[in-house]
Order: sequence, then structure tokens, then C-alpha cells
Amino acid sequence: MTAATTAPAPDRDDDRSPEGAGDPFDRDVLPAPPGATGALLRSLLSPLRGRVAVTALLLLLQQAAVQAGPLLVAYAIDRAVPAFRADDHGPLIAVAVGYLLCAAAAGALQYAFVTASARVSQDVLLDLRGRIFRHAQALSVDFHERYTSGRLISRSTTDVESLRELLEEGLQELVTVVLSCVYISVLLLWLDLGLGAVAVASFVPLYALVRSYQRRAGRVYRKRSTAIAAVIVKFVETMNGIRPVRAFRREAANDADFAVLNRRHERTNGDALLEMARYVVGSRVIANTTVALIVLWGAYRVADESLALGVLAAAVLYLRRLYDPIDRLGMFLNSYQSAAASLEKIAGLLAQTPSVPEPVSPRELPRRRSEHPGREVVFDGVRFAYRTGGEVLPRFDLTLPAGQTVAVVGSTGAGKSTLAKLLARFYDPTEGRVLLDGVDLRDLAGPDLRRGVVMVTQEAFLFSGTVAENIAIGRPDATREEIEQAAKEIGAHDFIAALPDGYDTDVRKRGGRISAGQRQLVAFARALLADPAVLILDEATSSLDIPGERAVQRAMATVLKGRTAVVIAHRLSTVEIADRVLVMERGRVVEDGRPAELIAGTGRFADLHRAWRDSLA
Ligand SMILES: Nc1ncnc2c1ncn2[C@@H]1O[C@H](COP(=O)(O)OP(=O)(O)OP(=O)(O)O)[C@@H](O)[C@H]1O
Ligand SMILES: [Mg+2]
Repeated sequence: MTAATTAPAPDRDDDRSPEGAGDPFDRDVLPAPPGATGALLRSLLSPLRGRVAVTALLLLLQQAAVQAGPLLVAYAIDRAVPAFRADDHGPLIAVAVGYLLCAAAAGALQYAFVTASARVSQDVLLDLRGRIFRHAQALSVDFHERYTSGRLISRSTTDVESLRELLEEGLQELVTVVLSCVYISVLLLWLDLGLGAVAVASFVPLYALVRSYQRRAGRVYRKRSTAIAAVIVKFVETMNGIRPVRAFRREAANDADFAVLNRRHERTNGDALLEMARYVVGSRVIANTTVALIVLWGAYRVADESLALGVLAAAVLYLRRLYDPIDRLGMFLNSYQSAAASLEKIAGLLAQTPSVPEPVSPRELPRRRSEHPGREVVFDGVRFAYRTGGEVLPRFDLTLPAGQTVAVVGSTGAGKSTLAKLLARFYDPTEGRVLLDGVDLRDLAGPDLRRGVVMVTQEAFLFSGTVAENIAIGRPDATREEIEQAAKEIGAHDFIAALPDGYDTDVRKRGGRISAGQRQLVAFARALLADPAVLILDEATSSLDIPGERAVQRAMATVLKGRTAVVIAHRLSTVEIADRVLVMERGRVVEDGRPAELIAGTGRFADLHRAWRDSLA
């Protein structure tokens, strides 16, 4: 297979997603190193090498049995019938038995082949889907911010599906056509050199036709698979954002956008059919002309007695067998083309490497110095810019002693969440280091990092499953008592107990729907149970009502005790539990001190605090 070498370069105009151009992530095909598609295919097939060989052998034998038919017909006409006339029944009986045996063998071999090839293709697809999932999950946060989930979905559905079509239907037919071409050419040349030569000569225009079809259809198919991906992306994006869509009455505009994408897909489908029709007509013209030539010339020679009638009959039968599947060859080539395009896209995805890689030789965290779970955090000359955008943190130095609770405040866009995400190692600094007890986060193994630092954000995502399972995500071996204990400490126990099935309520089922504030409480309990050394709360209480927030704050006094904590909040009530306050502006710390000191002073925080006080009055 030569998917990598025959696939033409991506068609730039049409690989653009509707969002725009420029960034390679705006295109459907991610750049992959040359030969990645072929390498992917080889790596998928090489574990199944033995079975692929057996499958190929079965097909070879099956074709041999199938192609014996016309040869037996020739023998019957030229030998068995004259013998029968001379009262020798043997040859005719032998032909009949031979024919039956060949048919039976062809059937049995076909069965064995289909079963074997289905197993191979199932294994390939299973492997491929698993790889896409594992790889996508392992890629860093910044990848997912740029590569839409709709595209990931179309990689693991439409693209895997087109490979399935090739493996389960197209490939067998494609190989059968090529095989029967070889078998039949050899047999025809052997039967009669002249007739054989005419048949083989017809391969020249047929080959040219196939090549030109392949080139043109390849382009169309690439466009088509990009067009369907765009349809899926639009669909997923709209349904994910159904609330803002409703709130801002975006339905009509979305309908219009979708109609454009949908029509574009339909148009590419029409183009594909047109190419197909051209091909079928062309191949029929070539086939029928050749058959006509052979019948004409053959009949002339039979009359001349330079050709046996049986040989002419066999030749015509063989030609039909040869040309019939060539009509359908276009279809199989289609599935080959679209599978090649899909495989190229999958290879591009699999070639992406995490921008936040696991360390090659991880370092251990030092033993904790005290009874406390907290650890020291140091931002050492950190500079950071997102891939798309300017510098967010221009040289940032900060030390948080173990066990300190720090409140970070500052205006929108100041870089507070960015600071938090660097500490949780969702991104690596562009320059400088983030240290946990003196160890660079980049040197920490994934599990150590997750035990070390846990972040609770505003979104408080819940996975399908029960409330208890959701709380236990950070520590799957936690007992029910521990789970309930964590929920009680955070003030979530009462509402959970009131759910239809209590802790066993499925959060995605009816009756299990819980509010945004309740979700945050579950997320808190989850973080508490995970027992991290450093806890980051980024607007984690933003959806709670005042009593709820008060309850969480009371709980936090115990929860955060001894831990290092970074609390980001716009509501200044949260600040009261902090040992220290940082005020951030444009990526810099502009004020740093104990809350009481700052409030008593004349700086930004004093202003903020006064304004907040007034707003409460
Ligand atoms: N994923 C991202 N890609 C590119 N730029 C980003 C990304 N996230 C944030 N930014 C930019 O970085 C800057 C700091 O954002 P950050 O989220 O850290 O602010 P913040 O202080 O948490 O604000 P808020 O109080 O609104 O949550 C902003 O200018 C923002 O536009
Ligand atoms: Mg933020």
C-alpha cells in the first residue's frame, strides 16, 4: 500500500476550516513528518503480519479456483463434446465434476478469506481508535484549546469509518481486481497469444483512465472529507454552546452558517459522483470495444479453423470477468482515496507531541519537613506567553512558604488564572522555573505532580457516574466513610443526602442534575479528598450563595490548615482567611502583604476593600 506516496498534497483552499486561516490548527490536516501516514499503516499492520499473509494466501487460492471455470468450458467444447460424440463419456463427467469441485473450493475459500480479513480489520480499527483516544488525552491543554473537539470527534468517527470501509469492502475488491487481471492475462496469453495480446493491450487505456480518475477523485475526496469535518465541527460547537445560542438568538445565523457548510459538503458529493460517472462510461467504452474486436477477429479465425471454438468462448467469458469488476474499480478506488485522506489526518493528529511532556528521568519530591502537608512553591524568573498572544507574565518571582494561604486579587485579565495554571503545570513557562519544594515541576512524574498540586476552578466539571465516584476521582481507593467525611467537611453532605439515591445518584441522569453551586461543592470535596500539598482555588466559590460561601470559608479554615493554598477570588470575603494578599496587575505583583496591613494602607487593595465594603452596606 502506498497511501503516503500517492496521496496528493493537501488542497489548501479547501482545508481551511470556517474559523479562518494562518495557524496550522485552523486547517483540518495537521502537519505531520513526511512518510507518517505510511509509517502509521505499517505500525498498525505489522503486529498482524502472520494473519495478513494467511489472508492474502486465501485470496490467491480462491481466485485460482474461480478462474478455472472458463478453462473447463473451453476443454468441454473442444475435447469433451467430440469425445462424447465418440461415445467416450469420461471427459465430460470429469469436466462436470471438476467444475463443481472448483465452485465448492472457491466458496469455501471465500468464506475463510472473509472471516480472516474481517478479524484483521477489526483488530486494526480497535487499535487505531484506542490510539487516537489515548493520544488525544495525553496531549496538553494548549492543544485542546486550539484543536476543536468537533475535529477530534470526526477523526475518531468519520475518518476511522472510512478506513473501515476500505478494509472491509474496498481492499478485498481492489486486490481481487488486480489479481484477476494477472491471472486472466496469463491464461489468455497461454490459450491464444494473439487474443491475449489484444486483451492485454486494452490495459493501457484502462490504466490511463484509472490514473486520471484517481487524480481527480483524490482532489474531490479530500475536499469532501474536509467539508464533512466542517459540518461536524459546526454541529458540535453549536450544541455545546446551546445556552448562549438561545440567549443571544443565534439560531437563524447558525442555520445560515450550517446551510453553507452543508451545501458545500453536498456539492463535493455531487462532484465525486460526476467523476465516478465519467470513469464508468470511459471504462465501458474501452471494455466493449475490446470485446467486439476479439469476437470479430476470433470468429474470423474460427471460420478459418486457426482457432478452436472453445478457446474463443473461454476468451469471451474471461473478458467479461475481467471488465465487470473494472466498472466497480472506481468505487473501490474511492474508498481507497478517502481512506488515504483520512489516514493522513489521523497520522497528523498522532504526530502531535505534548507541549508539556512527561520527564524522561523524573525526580522525587523530598520528604516532607514537618507534620504539615504543605510544600514550598517558588516562581523563579518565570516568563510566560500563550502560543497565541503576547506575554502575560513578564518575569515573575514569587516564594510561597509551605503552609501559607495566599489570596490573589487583581483586575480581569491580570494573569491570576495563568499563574494558577502554571503552578498546576497545564503549561510550562516560556522561561524560568516553577519549583515545588525545590523540584522543577518539569522534573516531577505525572502522579507526583497530581498528588502535589490540585486546582479547583469555576467550571467544576462532573463526569458521568455517581456523586461518590465524582468525589473519589483524585483517590479512587477512598472508602465511603472518607468520601462522606470530605463532603461533610465542605458542607456538601446535606444536599447530597437529599438527592434521590444519595451518594449513588448518577449525576447525568434525571433527578441527579445538580446546580452550579452544588457542583462546586462536589469539586471541593474531590480536592479535599485528594489531599494535595498545594491547593489552588480559582474562583472556586463564584457560584455559591453567600451562606454557602460562608460555610465553605469556615470549612476552608480547617481544610487549608498546613497546606499551601492559592485562593483567587473577586469576592473579597474570601481574603479574610488568607495569611497574605497579592495584588496583580498586568502580570506583575503590585502589592504584597498581610490583609490587615494592606487594608490599613493606602494602596490598590485598600481601595478595592473599601469599595467592596461600601457595596455590602
Ligand atoms: N488560553 C489562552 N490563550 C491565549 N491567551 C490567553 C489564554 N488564557 C488567557 N489568556 C490571556 O492572558 C491574559 C491573562 O489571563 P488570565 O486568565 O490569567 O486572567 P485573570 O487574571 O485570571 O482574569 P479573570 O479575573 O478575568 O479570571 C489575558 O489577557 C488573556 O487574554
Ligand atoms: Mg481567571
